[in-house]
Amino acid sequence: MALDFNGRVAIVTGAGGGLGRAHALALAARGARVVVNDLGGAVDGSGSSATAAERVVEEIRAAGGEAIANAASVTDFAAVQGMVQQAIATWGRVDVLVSNAGILRDKTFAKMDLADFRQVLEVHLMGAVHCCKALWPIMNAQKYGRIVLTTSSSGLYGNFGQTNYGAAKLALVGLMQTLAQEGAKNDIRVNCLAPTAVTRMTESLLPPDMLQAFGPEAVVPAMLVLASDEAPTRTTLCAGGGSFEAANITLTHGAFIGAGADAPEQWLARLDAVRDRRGEMVPANGSEQGTNELRLLREGR
Ligand code: NAI
Repeated sequence: MALDFNGRVAIVTGAGGGLGRAHALALAARGARVVVNDLGGAVDGSGSSATAAERVVEEIRAAGGEAIANAASVTDFAAVQGMVQQAIATWGRVDVLVSNAGILRDKTFAKMDLADFRQVLEVHLMGAVHCCKALWPIMNAQKYGRIVLTTSSSGLYGNFGQTNYGAAKLALVGLMQTLAQEGAKNDIRVNCLAPTAVTRMTESLLPPDMLQAFGPEAVVPAMLVLASDEAPTRTTLCAGGGSFEAANITLTHGAFIGAGADAPEQWLARLDAVRDRRGEMVPANGSEQGTNELRLLREGR
């Protein structure tokens, strides 16, 4: 089945280069009308320039597509609302959000300023929150929405020197988990994409043998599926170099130990059993995890 975005309107944040540019070009090539958002700053988020977004708009138009540029910072909620209004005024709807804008301010935790920690949370987490918040009433009213939040293996599994970035990126998985549940009744599907691609953000970090195969275009197919009519919901998809994996936050079967005076010692003695990954599950929501504990309590008695 060909994935077709004719009639759809998409906003791609951070689309002036790297992955966002590739996402915007691909959506437009498949018929979507695209808001190309980019602040146009450096990798650490400093500076700004409207030309980054405008250049990609020109590329899309040259290829016969429809696009408009927007230079809002996703950290500015009023500016994000303005971007959404710009899309509505131009095309009357917004169907797809690819929240992709991001910065890096890597340092070991010992050396990290709180200001750098906060700014990374502000761009990745609050930037995505601002876009979702501005679009949520629109997507609910039209009973359709596809939201792709860009997470990272750094958030899912950690990376040395990236406490700020990792915390922000895993927070997006948390945002997705609940938005997917709240959006389900109005066909708003929310997913996370964890890309691996050579961009200005990663070219000095990735090993040389990855540089060839790991272009942004090898991540794009994952985004297209998550942004499409056929999208799953509440999935965290990893994509890089043409390979795709799903990441889950799993729960082990667990063990009932009770809350007696010797519970800490018993728990310690059964550490391996509690952490045993055989039979682990992915709860449908937070309360299902509590239900699992209730089941263990009943079985344990
Ligand atoms: P990039 O630096 O080329 O792209 C990020 C874009 O976001 C830039 O064009 C930048 O100007 C824009 N941006 C930054 N702050 C902004 C703001 N406040 N408002 C609007 N736009 C803003 O880097 P890349 O690699 O394309 O990153 C795209 C996304 O993918 C980011 O969220 C990044 O964290 C994520 N990611 C990338 C990985 C990779 O392997 N390249 C790995 C995991 C995640």
